Amino acid sequence: MKLEQLCEVFEDLRFPTLGTQVHPERDAVLRARSIVGTAVVDDEFLADCLSWELRLLEDNRLRRGLVPFFTIPGLGVRFAFGYWPPGGTPGPHEHTAWTITAVCRNELEVLTYNRVESYRRRELVPKNLFHASAGTVGFIYEPCIHEPRNTSCDWSLSLHISSPLDGEQLCDYEEPLPALVTPGLSTAEYDHPYTSVMVARQRQRSVHQLALILASMDVPQAPELLSRCYRLASPVTRNWIDQMSPRPFEGNATEAPWILARTHMGLVLRPRPHGDMVALEVETPNGPLDEIIISNEACAAIALIARESIFDVCALPGHLSKEEQSAIAQVLEETGLFMRVLP
Ligand SMILES: [Fe+2]
Repeated sequence: MKLEQLCEVFEDLRFPTLGTQVHPERDAVLRARSIVGTAVVDDEFLADCLSWELRLLEDNRLRRGLVPFFTIPGLGVRFAFGYWPPGGTPGPHEHTAWTITAVCRNELEVLTYNRVESYRRRELVPKNLFHASAGTVGFIYEPCIHEPRNTSCDWSLSLHISSPLDGEQLCDYEEPLPALVTPGLSTAEYDHPYTSVMVARQRQRSVHQLALILASMDVPQAPELLSRCYRLASPVTRNWIDQMSPRPFEGNATEAPWILARTHMGLVLRPRPHGDMVALEVETPNGPLDEIIISNEACAAIALIARESIFDVCALPGHLSKEEQSAIAQVLEETGLFMRVLP
């Protein structure tokens, strides 16, 4: 199945058009849920969705919550992936319109809350706890408060399909529940150059998970998608792809010069003595932070890194071996301070 075919299902089931304050019939959501159940165990469908997700990751935006990789034109139905590290949870939150959620890889635990009682008592009142393994598809029709959590030791991936009306404030209760209010980033934080570092780290984590999934898929699109992962990946993920790959991927630049550029040209970096070592300090919205602390032998290299916004790794000074230069470059990429410049 293709994503396009699933989109046609929502059209055929006559889901309300975007801009109308109308909810679909419960039966329509149930039928859509059943077809999502077929789609989510089909790797062709998942690969199609991952292609859109990679486009989103290539866009370099900070993700807060679920960010749609695709929205059905005319209907506004949104598709997003959720990445859940071990122990990961978005915390308790409310859905105010229909949603369909599928576990694509690994598992999740979902705690639901009694919404009426929670609003009445002004505190969250637990209701049910569900375990959802890969392939499980749940849905919400009535407004609901829940809290998914990955209680396993591996990462989980989930697919979230939601109404354009989900998230709109309902008027059945005047005051929001304090437990559901989550502070976002301030404008100053969003605009700060260090936010690009956070975006780079997020992207590296997501791309690593996508690479693991794609490597295990036996579908025609997988090699091309894995090659797109390669171009976005951290050195650790690139090495992993290199080792498991039966042939070099497009974008594999192991023979090309290793050029690094700052993730954001406005990043402020400083070398700083740290005992008998040297630190690379970066300016963050909350003040300076030591991102790297390294032997004093790398003192000249750290000075160059703090000074130059783009440099060739093999030009790092201080009589460093090729392996030492590579190790520093790898750490710089993994921190998200620098990115490899593609040939
Ligand atoms: Fe949710």
